[in-house]
Formats: sequence, structure tokens, C-alpha cells
Amino acid sequence: MRFRLPAGKDAAMNVIAFVTQKGGTGKSSLAVSLAVAAEERGIKTSIIDLDPQGTAKNWYERREAEGGPEVNALQAGQLEAAMGLLKKQGVQLVIIDTPGVDTPAATAAIQVANLCLIPARPSIADIEAARPTVRSIARLDKPFSYVLNQCPPGRSIRTSDAFRVLQLSGAVASTPLAMRADHMDALATGQGVTERDTNSKAAAEVRELLQWALTKMEGKPHGQETRVA
Ligand SMILES: Nc1ncnc2c1ncn2[C@@H]1O[C@H](COP(=O)(O)OP(=O)(O)OP(=O)(O)O)[C@@H](O)[C@H]1O
Ligand SMILES: [Mg+2]
Repeated sequence: MRFRLPAGKDAAMNVIAFVTQKGGTGKSSLAVSLAVAAEERGIKTSIIDLDPQGTAKNWYERREAEGGPEVNALQAGQLEAAMGLLKKQGVQLVIIDTPGVDTPAATAAIQVANLCLIPARPSIADIEAARPTVRSIARLDKPFSYVLNQCPPGRSIRTSDAFRVLQLSGAVASTPLAMRADHMDALATGQGVTERDTNSKAAAEVRELLQWALTKMEGKPHGQETRVA
């Protein structure tokens, strides 16, 4: 595991966990793009990859840009200690990517998070498949929100219907993210969508999602959260 030199700070740290046992909903893609967008705002950000598939770790290895978020691939049992180290180093935001199956890694990520994000496509299959994850989050009394992802671009009844259903199931991020090729291309080139094309719609949506998440976590950093969902 590669860590920056300790910064000796003890500032508040936010921890976002991307979780859902439904595969392919966009956990890794949103994790890396959100992390890049956060670094662009001057927020010191670190990604933890708990998925043996290593999507975020492989993205980091393809990365050519200077700076940006670091990615550490860890096992669930290393997570708690890593949180302490990252906090000491002055990391302000940790983003955890988890496997798309129900494993101890997802539970460990939920445990250390002060916001759990559940990406879901606007389809009943994704929403149903996320329910066991929501139950795990509720058992651990953690704040969570769905994030609609891979929506049809533009206005769509499918998106607005899914949005309403998810609002009733707890909480849903105010910005649905559309299906946009930038996400696939950014994953392939080791970039975030905001650095691939800063003026793209995908970039604007990711920046909005970041702002929404930061607002949601305001005043409730890692270790001090109260359930809000
Ligand atoms: N908003 C989007 N628009 C277009 N493609 C997307 C979007 N979000 C994700 N994708 C693509 O969908 C595929 C699955 O995304 P990703 O790997 O991020 O999902 P995941 O939830 O991490 O999957 P797994 O459960 O297997 O880890 C990838 O090819 C990714 O580039
Ligand atoms: Mg993934």
C-alpha cells in the first residue's frame, strides 16, 4: 500500500462507500470520476479499492496525469487501520469502491463510511437487487442514498419514475447521471470525466454529484455521522 508522507493533520475526513451487490451499475466509474473532481476542487482525496476485480486499481495504473487521487487496493481487514493512516496524512475525502457481490468487503466499507452511495440504473432489477445492501446499511445505522446512473440522456419517464420510487425507498441524489460514452472512455484512459472533457455534460453531472454529496456530509464527517436517510 502506498501512502503519501504524513501531513500531521487531524482534520475532519469524509468517507464515501460505493456499494450495491448489483454488478455493473457504475460503482467504480463514479468512484474514480468523483475522486478526480474532488481533487480538482482542492480536496485531498484517496480511493480504496476493495474489489478483487481491481477496476479502480487498474484505472490508476493506466493513469498518466500528474497528481489526482491515489488508489490503494486493500483487503476488508485492512480498512480500519487505513482510515487512521489516511486521516493522519490529511486526506479529506476517502472514496471506497466495493465488489458487486455481497462480501465482507461491502460490510467493512459501510462500517467506515459516513455516506453510502448506491448507484442504480433506472431499472427495477437494479432497484430490487440493491435492497439487501440497503438492509445492511440500515443495520449499521449509516446514511445512504441511491444515485441514478446510466439514465437515458435528456428527459425520460423511466428516469423520473425511478427517481420517485427511490425517493420513497429512502433517499436519492438530486442529480441523475446519464449514459454517456465519456464514462467508458475515462475508465479506459485512467482519467476522470472532468479531466477528459471539462465542458462535457458527464463532467457537469459528476461535479453536481460531488457538490450534493459534500453538502449531505457537511457537519457529519467520518466517525461523527448520524443516520439521515
Ligand atoms: N453513466 C455512464 N454512462 C456510460 N457508461 C457507464 C456509466 N457508468 C458506468 N458506465 C460503464 O458501465 C460499465 C460498468 O460500470 P462500472 O464498472 O463502473 O460498474 P460497477 O458497479 O463498478 O461494476 P462491478 O459491480 O462489476 O464492480 C463500465 O463499462 C462503465 O464504463
Ligand atoms: Mg466495480
